Amino acid sequence: MVGKTMKAVRQHEFGGPEVLRYEDAPRPEIQPGEVLVRVHAVGVNPPDWYLRDGYKMLPPEWQPQVPFPVILGTDISGVVEALADDVSGFSVGDEVYAMVRFPSFGPSKAYAEYVTVPATELALKPPGIDHQHAAAAPMSLLTAWQFMIELGHDEPNPLQPAKHQPVPLQGKTVLINGAAGGVGHLAVQIAKWRGARVIAVASAEHEAFLRELGADEFIDYTQTDAEEVVRDIDLVIDAVGGPNTGRFLRTLKRGGALFPIFPLGFSGAEEASQLGVAVSATQVRSNGAQLAEVGRLLDAGTLRVVIDSRFALADAAKAHERAARGHIRGKIVLRVD
Ligand SMILES: NC(=O)c1ccc[n+]([C@@H]2O[C@H](COP(=O)([O-])OP(=O)(O)OC[C@H]3O[C@@H](n4cnc5c(N)ncnc54)[C@H](OP(=O)(O)O)[C@@H]3O)[C@@H](O)[C@H]2O)c1
Repeated sequence: MVGKTMKAVRQHEFGGPEVLRYEDAPRPEIQPGEVLVRVHAVGVNPPDWYLRDGYKMLPPEWQPQVPFPVILGTDISGVVEALADDVSGFSVGDEVYAMVRFPSFGPSKAYAEYVTVPATELALKPPGIDHQHAAAAPMSLLTAWQFMIELGHDEPNPLQPAKHQPVPLQGKTVLINGAAGGVGHLAVQIAKWRGARVIAVASAEHEAFLRELGADEFIDYTQTDAEEVVRDIDLVIDAVGGPNTGRFLRTLKRGGALFPIFPLGFSGAEEASQLGVAVSATQVRSNGAQLAEVGRLLDAGTLRVVIDSRFALADAAKAHERAARGHIRGKIVLRVD
């Protein structure tokens, strides 16, 4: 194996999409506990462009040191090529998917023909969906799942002192902001599957799409500020988040909860406590067991991952340009085969 190369998308400096280079890179070698996967498709997520840009959106003390050249990405679907001797539960030739090493930083990442994956982060690909749909799922679906259904780990929460606790959804009214995006379109479906009434907030072009996914009501945020027209909500999932997320506090009933998926910049703790509203967030973590569980829902069609657009791995820069234009409906994926 020593000396083998592969094609990968790497960057040697921070910057815009133009810093992404499709080039030869060393093929990663498996360490104990790992599986080598021949990648068929890659899912694109916001942390990919945060890294590409140099984590400008993070406070300086949170910005990790990045060892260049670096390969981007976390979400893959592919076929097992080799396994470390101590790995059981997978075999060469298995179709698998994963969110690789998030939030930790590892030597082998997703925008490549091969990636090594800790076996604990891997699950069998749902047989009923193809590699592109499977690669589109992990980060967005694990985020929605860990916020809404089950955290799935006891690691310290980097975003708040308390462990994040999902809340019951059955019979509740749930407002989802950013409903058409990667996390949002899955959050809509999870809330409906668990028996909630869903109000989806997105731009007008996504209304039919979101109603088809189950949204009971739709608010076009370009025409109407949701916080001016809704009250008595049980749970707001704000998949846009950031400093403006506090505007949703007044839409919630006492005892309700606001879950900002991107909570940095939130400054409404005092108002939340006066209103009797809980505000809670967490950072998504890789979890193979949860991917196996949600994989059954993907396989059954209970949850559906929708693809916004597809690009060849060599055109990763174009995929990032697409992301920068915004209004993403579902997920952007890269084809590797
Ligand atoms: N906590 C975690 O561990 C975690 C994990 C994953 C993602 N995140 C964060 O969660 C956020 C969402 O991620 P994602 O993958 O779902 O992103 P995404 O796929 O880019 O989706 C964002 C969606 O928000 C909509 N939007 C933009 N501005 C809006 C506004 N003002 N009001 C309502 N909707 C708006 C966009 O479409 P329209 O404008 O056309 O409606 C788009 O559909 C990102 O900030 C990401 O960093 C956090």
